[in-house]
Formats: sequence, structure tokens, C-alpha cells
Amino acid sequence: MNISTNEFSDLGNIMIIPVFEHTEKAPNNTTIGLSRSASIAIKSAISSERCDGKEGSLISIWTKDCQIILLGTGKAEELDSRKARNIGAKCFANLPKNHGKNLVIRFTTGWSVTNMAAFAEGMILRNYSFEKYLTKNKENNEIEDWSVVFQTTKRKLQNLDSEITRLSAVATGVHLARDLGNEPANRLYPEEFGRRALEWAKGKENVEVEVWDFNRLKEEGMNGLIEVGKGSVHKPCMVFFCLNPNSEVDEQVPCIVGKGITFDSGGISIKGSAGMDEMKLDMHGSATVFGLFQSLHATGYEGRVNGITCMAENMPSAEAYRPGDVIDTYSGKTIEVLNTDAEGRNVLADGLWKASELNPSYIIDLATLTGSIVVALGHEASGLFSNDDSLSEKIKKAGDEVGEICWPMPILPELEKQMTSSKIADVRNQGKGRWGGAIQAAGFLKQFVQERENEIGGKSQIPWAHLDIAGTAGIWSGDSNAIVGYGATGVQVRTLHQLITKK
Ligand code: BES
Ligand code: MN
Ligand code: ZN
Repeated sequence: MNISTNEFSDLGNIMIIPVFEHTEKAPNNTTIGLSRSASIAIKSAISSERCDGKEGSLISIWTKDCQIILLGTGKAEELDSRKARNIGAKCFANLPKNHGKNLVIRFTTGWSVTNMAAFAEGMILRNYSFEKYLTKNKENNEIEDWSVVFQTTKRKLQNLDSEITRLSAVATGVHLARDLGNEPANRLYPEEFGRRALEWAKGKENVEVEVWDFNRLKEEGMNGLIEVGKGSVHKPCMVFFCLNPNSEVDEQVPCIVGKGITFDSGGISIKGSAGMDEMKLDMHGSATVFGLFQSLHATGYEGRVNGITCMAENMPSAEAYRPGDVIDTYSGKTIEVLNTDAEGRNVLADGLWKASELNPSYIIDLATLTGSIVVALGHEASGLFSNDDSLSEKIKKAGDEVGEICWPMPILPELEKQMTSSKIADVRNQGKGRWGGAIQAAGFLKQFVQERENEIGGKSQIPWAHLDIAGTAGIWSGDSNAIVGYGATGVQVRTLHQLITKK
């Protein structure tokens, strides 16, 4: 998508004019540059009863200049960035593909820079499809790219332009996360993820990527990751990302950790076959981490940030770990495995402990961790768990600002206690019943966040938050989302980019 901005100076093949509810006559600037007949057609359409400006309504007008679409955007006073983003996304998804690819979006009275930019962002985010394995598309190559021009008054042009440039850069990370999430598990396994991360880092001066392979994991004693991944022919690895390693060296900086199960069959505690294909997406936490680094790099963030992804494929085999096994994790704590399908928490145990060693300002982990969070929140919100109210509030706020809901959930002491009540190990990887499963999982993870000295001479845990993205990472048939057509969503890349860059 080639994006530009200008002051009403061209028309395109398709011109979209957003119209608020109760607009009785064409606002200023609506018809600049259009022929007399086209101007009359637009003015009469806007003044007509039929044009009510209700959200989602469309009126198409054919003129000799271009096709004009009057797009209803609802009540002016109700428009906010979330709404504008969704309207932009839906509008893009519904555009005719065969009437030319030069789009003009003409914003008239009542549009703030924030809302215009959000509208543009919606289009940019929606402009994605994963078609690399569709051989039939390759034949009619030369699929022409969209050219999109956002038009506003001179006064707002500069700000709109720079905000759209920033949001486009952020979107490259969202699209990268989707690409990784959509890759099938026979194409993207732990080592391949590591290879892509190394390749991504090549030629970028302020980026470091390091991959710990299976042997290194053994040397380090990262048995949480090893035990989960050893049943597969594709061995596990841990990938480290660092942006701007030489800046803020004396400061504490964030560390973002991702669950990267490239396929979750359940292992010996094997899953049922219905929907098992979706478990290629069980690495979306790691995809979000990778995508976040792309976004931060693309927007030129100058602070230091660390990322860790825990990559493994959870498969049943003669070499797989079993229910009843006891794992010696990197932390030194032992885990009693009651269910090999509760694997995400086992790999994150090592990732969180490692993150703690970096003495970060805070740790945030992302994981498609539990079916239970999908029961609780559906596909609308990610579950947000934390040991630190102030961190939790900041994440929620960042999510609200970019339109990705992070809904605060409690870490209830009784459920946490279930996770430490094993008779033969320090921690058990499943609670005592199925209720509150997402909370149990968070209570488990909390055991692997280190404590450190605090200002009052005592010890307290490093601020940490856990985002359970099991319900928000993917859109499959039956679900819907304005900014994603199908598959991986790239969820929380924008939230974390906002959190880190707008502090
Ligand atoms: N990857 C799954 C969770 C999941 C479910 C992600 C649905 C996306 C959509 C996770 O590893 C898992 O299997 N969790 C189990 C835990 C249970 C065995 C304690 C679950 O939630 O059922
Ligand atoms: Mn599982
Ligand atoms: Zn899983």
C-alpha cells in the first residue's frame, strides 16, 4: 500500500467521503477539484433523506471523474479513535477490487488528526492476507498495489502525515507477527523461528539476536523448555532479542517474554482432533515479541528493550515427557507434570527466570496459555494478570489507546496455592480442578518471577504482568474482527509499542 497525504489535490479512481449522521449539506472542501456535474451529484446525495450518515451505510455515486462513496460514520460526537479505526478497516475490507486501485479518502469538517490517523491505521492493518501457499495466485502475478491518499486541510496535514507514517511503521510489526502466526508448523518450527530472527537482525546496527540451541539449553539447565520440546524431531531453542544494546546501560529496561509452542498437540496428554490445526498458533506470544521488535525498530525507538522467546514443539513420542514426570527448571524449582498439555507454563518458567536475571524494569509475558481465558473473555479481550497494580494499569491504558482490550484478572491466593501444593515437587503444572484455569496458570507463572531488593531494605518481586492471549491471537471461521480477516491477529504488538514508546 502506497500511502500519501495532500490537501484535496487529486481525485483517484475511488473517492471515499466519510459523512456524519445528520449532515444536511455537503461540508466545506467536499467537492474541491470535481467537475460541476459530479459536485451537483454529491451535493444532492448528501442533502437527500437517503443519506443518513448511519455508521456503516454506503452510497455509491458514479461520476465522470471517479466513483464516489459516501461512507456513513455515525454521530460526530460519538466518533473516537477505536471507532474510526474499525470504520476504516471495514471500509477497506469491503472495497471493490476491480474499479481501480487509486483511493482517495477525503476528510471534511469534524475530523481530528487522531481520528483520521486511526481511520488510516484501520485500513493499513486490514490490508493483509497470507497467500504465500496459494499457487493459483502466483500465475496471475502483477497484483497491483493500492495507492491511498488521505486528504485534509493544510492546517492538519503535517500532523496527519507524521502520525500516519508512525502508525504504518508500527503496522509492519503487526503484519510480521501475523506472518509468523499463520505459518504452519511444518514450515515454522523452533529452529526456523530462530533462523528468521537472526536473518531479521542482519544489517540492523542497533539490534542483537542470539539463539540458544538444544545443546546450550542443556548446558544452562533449561529443562522446562527441554522437557516440553524433546518429544519432537524439531528441537527447542530460546531466542534473545535486544534493541539498542548500548543505550540506557545503567538503567533498568523492559523485558518481554513470549510463549513459542510452534505446535501444541498436547503431547502424551493429547488433545482431541477438533480444531487441533489452530494449535499452530500456539507460538503467537513469541510472534508478538518478534513483531514488537520490528515495530520498535521501524519507528526508531532509541531506548533499550529485551525480548525472550521460548520455542518448542509439544509432541507425543517415545522421547516425550510424561504426566507424573518431575522437571528441574532453570530456576532450581521443580515442577510435577500432571498434564503435558499444560506445556506453555513449563517453558515460560525458564523464560521468566531468565528474564529476571536481566534485572529488568518490568517483565511482561505473552502466551496463548489457556482455554479457560477464552471461556472468560471470548475473543474480545486478553486476560491481564499482574503482581503490580501500577504496571497493570499502564498496560490497560496503552491497550485502550490502541484499541486492544487487556482486561484485568485477579491472581487469587487460593488458586495460586493449589499450584504449590504438590506432594513431590515445588510446583505442579495443573490446579486441583478445572475452574479458574487461567488464574491457576497465572499463579503458576508467578512462582518463576524473581524477587529483588526493594527501596525499603526488604525483598519484593520484579513487577511482572502476564497477558493470556489464547482468545485474541487468532480469528477463525465464525469469529469476526474489523482489522483482521482471518488467522493470526498480531495482537498486543501495538499495545506494547504504545506502552514502551509513550512512557
Ligand atoms: N495452547 C493451549 C491453550 C489454548 C487453548 C490456546 C485454546 C488457544 C486456544 C494450552 O497449552 C493448553 O493446552 N492449556 C490447557 C491447560 C490445561 C491442560 C491445564 C487448557 O487450557 O485446557
Ligand atoms: Mn497445551
Ligand atoms: Zn499450548
